[in-house]
Amino acid sequence: MSGQGPLLSVAGIEVMYARLALVLRGLTLAVPKGGIVALLGANGAGKTTTMKAIANLLRAERGEVTKGAIHYDGARIDHLEASDLARRGLSLVMEGRHAFPTLSVEDNLKVGAFSRRDGAVAESLDLVYRTFPRLKERRRQQAGLLSGGEQQMCVIGRALMARPRMILLDEPSMGLAPLLVEEIFATLRRLNAEEGVTFLLAEQNAAVALRYATYAYLVESGRVVREGPAAALAADPDIRASYLGLDASAAADGAALAARRRLRWLS
Ligand SMILES: Nc1ncnc2c1ncn2[C@@H]1O[C@H](COP(=O)(O)OP(=O)(O)OP(=O)(O)O)[C@@H](O)[C@H]1O
Ligand SMILES: [Mg+2]
Repeated sequence: MSGQGPLLSVAGIEVMYARLALVLRGLTLAVPKGGIVALLGANGAGKTTTMKAIANLLRAERGEVTKGAIHYDGARIDHLEASDLARRGLSLVMEGRHAFPTLSVEDNLKVGAFSRRDGAVAESLDLVYRTFPRLKERRRQQAGLLSGGEQQMCVIGRALMARPRMILLDEPSMGLAPLLVEEIFATLRRLNAEEGVTFLLAEQNAAVALRYATYAYLVESGRVVREGPAAALAADPDIRASYLGLDASAAADGAALAARRRLRWLS
């Protein structure tokens, strides 16, 4: 059934909110099995809308996919509920870390296993605690009292409890200190390598995402404007200047050098 195609494909989707605001304008992307694909773009580019379109969460916001198709594992998933998606191995971690604040860490994690029928919940809990030892230490604590980074670990852990083949992760780095961002991304890479989990990550932090992703798409105003292997995009001068904030000083150095040359030539 899965065939040779990508695990997830989004083909030319348009998304409209409240029947008037066209936010995605023919967005296309593909995520191969075993990939870590990054969806990069500035505020309002349409990253979260893309994630919600895939997870069929637009309706609650009066949004709808008005064109295009979304396939996961060889089948259209446009009308599946989150629980159906979870059963098929697709989990979503939304923007902004929504742990249940009054539940303990462990109960938050157990919520993530709601769609499971195989009873092997203890095994998954063990994987989560091996992945995030800090969650194990704090397993009886209320999730609302965790630090921002620990809450991010908690919601990623909750997604892992469904034993997903693929996780959609919206802005994992948001609001976290740089060291924690590295820790979270390194963990995602380990889950990818050791557990075979495929990732689609939406990120504003292009510098970090391009270091961990295999492939990336750059989104502007609801369209993909660039795509390529992450390493190639990270080396691209335009992207370095506009998205990574690099090379601006190199460009300034170049201009100063040119000015000095001109001066020498004039004198
Ligand atoms: N419920 C909604 N109703 C109307 N417009 C919306 C709604 N949600 C988002 N938008 C608009 O859709 C566009 C894309 O928003 P989206 O949240 O997908 O961007 P984003 O790339 O995730 O940005 P950020 O990096 O800030 O999270 C924005 O212009 C936003 O104002
Ligand atoms: Mg967003």
